[in-house]
Amino acid sequence: MRNKNFNIGVVTFKNPVFLASGPAGYGIEYRDLINLEKLGAVVTKTISLMPKEGNSGTRLQETESGLLNSIGLENVGARRFFDEKLPELLDAGAKPVVSLACEGKEEYLELLDITSKQDNVDVVELNLSCPNVEEGGMGVGTDPALLRWYIKEAKHILGGMAVLAKLTPNVGDISSLAVISEKAGADGITAINTLLGMDINLETGTPVFDRVVAGFSGPAIMPIALRAVWEIAKVVRIPVIGVGGISSIEDAGKFLAAGAAAVQVGTAIFYDPGLPERIVDSL
Ligand SMILES: Cc1cc2nc3c(=O)[nH]c(=O)nc-3n(C[C@H](O)[C@H](O)[C@H](O)COP(=O)(O)O)c2cc1C
Repeated sequence: MRNKNFNIGVVTFKNPVFLASGPAGYGIEYRDLINLEKLGAVVTKTISLMPKEGNSGTRLQETESGLLNSIGLENVGARRFFDEKLPELLDAGAKPVVSLACEGKEEYLELLDITSKQDNVDVVELNLSCPNVEEGGMGVGTDPALLRWYIKEAKHILGGMAVLAKLTPNVGDISSLAVISEKAGADGITAINTLLGMDINLETGTPVFDRVVAGFSGPAIMPIALRAVWEIAKVVRIPVIGVGGISSIEDAGKFLAAGAAAVQVGTAIFYDPGLPERIVDSL
């Protein structure tokens, strides 16, 4: 029987099955469908310093093999999140991992400062990889100097909190970014965020999304995420958390076999909210 406990930095999780950032919102939206207490953790929707309305136009588009999204980090902002949403998530018995936006440097430092004052938070995930925003996001996660800066500041300002670096697959060599993240002080790597995709409306001949590109997730990206985790796990000593297209217990098993210390389930909860709990039961 596998020992279900595992650690990121000094933080212990009861099992290695998390909800991924985004599809479950702040987590509480799913409390009637998923026993949140049973999961290792719930990674919240990415939070920015100020509230964000998100992108205009179409935001979600299904394809044969996955989902395109252009949400654009819509969220209530840090203060409302910490005052209203986080207490509800804690009341539901969930272990929160707070996903932080890596936006402009000044906003980011203030976001870190507010986060550092939260007694109920001991792990954050830095979203260094959002493809759906102009500032910060993927641009940060693909530039080694910026990647280093964002992680170092988080480690410095957040004191003892564990810091996960969530990386983008939209690069030539994701494992080198993982090594940079580890050297900058990250306590774990989350891989992967969505891949860049797009769609065309055949009636108008124009792109479906106002920003043209969108993030692609779901079953089709699972082999890509698995390859990324395999490569990263070979070159870092910190835990790697696998995410991308996990749609079955077998998929989760493959990530753990590839070297992941834990897995996150994202898109699949839209049509199979029972999956994360079944993965926990299977361990
Ligand atoms: C609707 C939607 C919203 C998302 N929002 C976020 C987000 O706010 N922050 C983040 O780090 N990742 C976000 N993601 C990416 C997921 O956390 C995950 O990395 C990606 O979708 C791959 O996993 P999956 O195929 O299991 O969904 C979002 C994904 C979807 C589908």
